[in-house]
Amino acid sequence: MLVRPRRLRQKEVLREMVRETKMSPNSLIYPMFIKEGSNIVEEIPSMEGQFRYSVDTMSDKLAKLKEAGVKSVMLFGIPKEKDELGTGAYASNGVIQTALREAKKNFPDLFFIADVCMCEYTSHGHCGVLHGYEVDNDATLELLKKTALSYVQAGADMVAPSDMMDGRVLAIRNTLDNHGFEHIPIMSYAVKYASTFYTPFRDAAGSAPSFGDRKSYQMDYHNRKEALKEALLDVKEGADIIMVKPALSYLDIVREVADAVNVPVAAYSVSGEYAMVKAAKHLGYMDEKKVICEMATGVYRAGASIYLTYYAEEIAECMKKGDIG
Ligand code: PBG
Repeated sequence: MLVRPRRLRQKEVLREMVRETKMSPNSLIYPMFIKEGSNIVEEIPSMEGQFRYSVDTMSDKLAKLKEAGVKSVMLFGIPKEKDELGTGAYASNGVIQTALREAKKNFPDLFFIADVCMCEYTSHGHCGVLHGYEVDNDATLELLKKTALSYVQAGADMVAPSDMMDGRVLAIRNTLDNHGFEHIPIMSYAVKYASTFYTPFRDAAGSAPSFGDRKSYQMDYHNRKEALKEALLDVKEGADIIMVKPALSYLDIVREVADAVNVPVAAYSVSGEYAMVKAAKHLGYMDEKKVICEMATGVYRAGASIYLTYYAEEIAECMKKGDIG
């Protein structure tokens, strides 16, 4: 036998030497829920270990993330009042605007990304303006432009549109440029599938659609070529980073998109992926830490260079200790 693959697997030092996937906490993004009000630290029932914070309580968590080596945070807002047009999303004293001003003051070296979408702010829970029972694409663009601009004016380091309206990357790019924010990058949720894995998030944000579903704007999960269409389109519109979401059931798509585009690719391990691991942990079926390390590595191996995960803090610790990466 000339070739014995096991030769390179004999010792940890050798395994580490030939390791193909390298990762670092620099590429982790932690998604965080900020709720309007004060003195709020509420655990999200379907996402044990994840909380809704108010602006006055978020600093402890931000400090912990920083300590763990997580440098980037993606903020989602939960307003007190929701209405037809999601006005809370672009109010200058809205929950995310307030959070950004405070966070940038206290954590100037953390990188804050604002998720841009209407669904947490609309009374009907859809990601845009309704025209009867349809989401009106072009009317929604106007609100997304206002929302993105208002987050950037409040201090967002990057914006991440997650609404899946057509043309929104270009619309946001032009708006930011016209206001002197040409240096602010856009991370586009370009390839976002209509997924049941978002269920716990909708619990967390109270953003489940009050009728119908999101299939007229989020992608059909049977489709592969369409992912390339969306990704390439958003690169053309000026997206600086392309995201694929969810992660675990879509690693084939992560690989194809990563091979097809010339920008960094991010993958988002969504709320349902987190909830499944927690459930398995409680049933005693799997070791939580080992399984999240394996999941993270799979995402990077598939071609993502950025990873959004509710386990960012734990994974950063694993990377620092050398358990992975
Ligand atoms: C907003 C948005 C959603 C998620 C991220 N941004 C929910 C949705 O599309 O219904 C899901 C994130 C997660 O499940 O962790 N549109």
